Amino acid sequence: MKKRIEISAILANPQLDTEVTVMGWVRAFRNNRFIALNDGSTQNNLQIVADNEQFAEELLRKISFHACIAVTGQLTASLGSGQAVEIQASHIEILGECNPESYPLQPKRQTMEFLRSKAHFRPRTSTFSAVFRIRHAIAFAIHKYYNDRGFYYLHSPIITGSDAEGAGEMFRVTTLDVENLPRTEAGEIDWKEDFFGRSANLTVSGQLQAEIGALALGKVYTFGPTFRAENSNTPRHLAEFWMIEPEMAFCDIYGNMDLAEDFCKYLIRYVLDNCYDDVAALDARLKEEEKSLPADKRRPMGLEEQLRFVLDNDFERITYTDAIRILQNSKPYKKGQFEFPVEWGKDLQAEHERFLVEKEFKKPVIVRNYPKVFKAFYMRLNDPEPGVPGDTVAAMDVLFPGIGEVIGGSQREERYDVLRSRIHDMGIHEEELWWYLELRKFGGAPHAGFGLGFERMVQFITGMSNIRDVIPFPRTPKSAEF
Ligand code: 4AD
Ligand code: MG
Repeated sequence: MKKRIEISAILANPQLDTEVTVMGWVRAFRNNRFIALNDGSTQNNLQIVADNEQFAEELLRKISFHACIAVTGQLTASLGSGQAVEIQASHIEILGECNPESYPLQPKRQTMEFLRSKAHFRPRTSTFSAVFRIRHAIAFAIHKYYNDRGFYYLHSPIITGSDAEGAGEMFRVTTLDVENLPRTEAGEIDWKEDFFGRSANLTVSGQLQAEIGALALGKVYTFGPTFRAENSNTPRHLAEFWMIEPEMAFCDIYGNMDLAEDFCKYLIRYVLDNCYDDVAALDARLKEEEKSLPADKRRPMGLEEQLRFVLDNDFERITYTDAIRILQNSKPYKKGQFEFPVEWGKDLQAEHERFLVEKEFKKPVIVRNYPKVFKAFYMRLNDPEPGVPGDTVAAMDVLFPGIGEVIGGSQREERYDVLRSRIHDMGIHEEELWWYLELRKFGGAPHAGFGLGFERMVQFITGMSNIRDVIPFPRTPKSAEF
């Protein structure tokens, strides 16, 4: 196949008056002469001038929206406005026709819901190509961030026997014949007959294995897919999402919060420095979309402005007990506008988190020291504190504007006896966690870590309002097409 140059390379360093070949998909064809070509390497299209005398009508007819073409010609300075360079086509080949009568996409604004049903074509649109390039950049930046700071990438398993969150929201993995399950004498399903000789599930988190890594390598992180069978049909939940879980030995909740804030800011800065054109395009798209909304429904800031604002300000750090006090003194609470109760000992709901982030502090907030009653078994029990009505654990959630929780983490319970009694109190079978307990018995250390929801961060940085639009192939209740 003929060698082609990527449009990003041409635009970054145009070699005027040389012959080049480009290949890509037609975004627009004006006046039977000007083609806007995009090859996915950049947000920007390259203009191709097809002198219509030179090309057969038959060929020109096939240059339609999203048809795939190869163009060879001279790269010249453009006289038109809107672009610095263009190609004077001498040869055009149709690589893949795209009949506009039957092609599902149209060269106009289409709803996100519709595009979700066309996940095989949506990456060709300007919005989705920008989102997926940024998603890539963030994934790359994550590895760079941890590598540069001496963390080791640990591959936690995808199939496991443990429920890391103790929440029971797991997808079972089995090779048993579901229509003819083996039974024990007592009539229960005999998991010993299953592939792994025990019951197994897709992981909900790599944390427990990351703790093994941290207690040997010092600092590790995982970055992989995680699975939750929670029936949450919201713009923030996926059944399959990616999580980044750093875990550090010799670290407490304060060091953990410092890392979380620094890490979030690094990713935002990386995208502004490396994907500026894509951010600008998404920013413009949002502004356009919001024109039709009443003023009070519009976002308080543009996308780029919001990203810079998060970079320029310290995250607010408060305790759960502070959060309850602030919420109970708030206008919406006094006017009875919260749907869920605000009471010490009850979990914060999305509406409460949004109030704290968007109304009270107007910036990211880290809430720590939650009541132990609704938090996971592995979180470290705090000493009693004056003014705090019940037992708390060294948990932390990072809350972001427009998104809510992007990070959940904690200092881990490193004291064998305390952990063991917590496991018992929560009704978890000790045998399932035998190795986790042994980590405390033999050479344990104080340690801490957190999990960043990758798609939620991509959502924040791209400004997309639904999490299904920042992952190429979303998995949600009743939906696993593609
Ligand atoms: O708060 P979570 O459940 O914490 C854990 O899994 C810990 N084991 C992490 C750790 O300490 N190593 O999940 C972490 C983050 C959440 O803050 C959220 O951003 C994201 O994962 N998340 C989801 N993202 C998309 N869809 C879902 N269903 C999610 N559930 C959690
Ligand atoms: Mg959480």
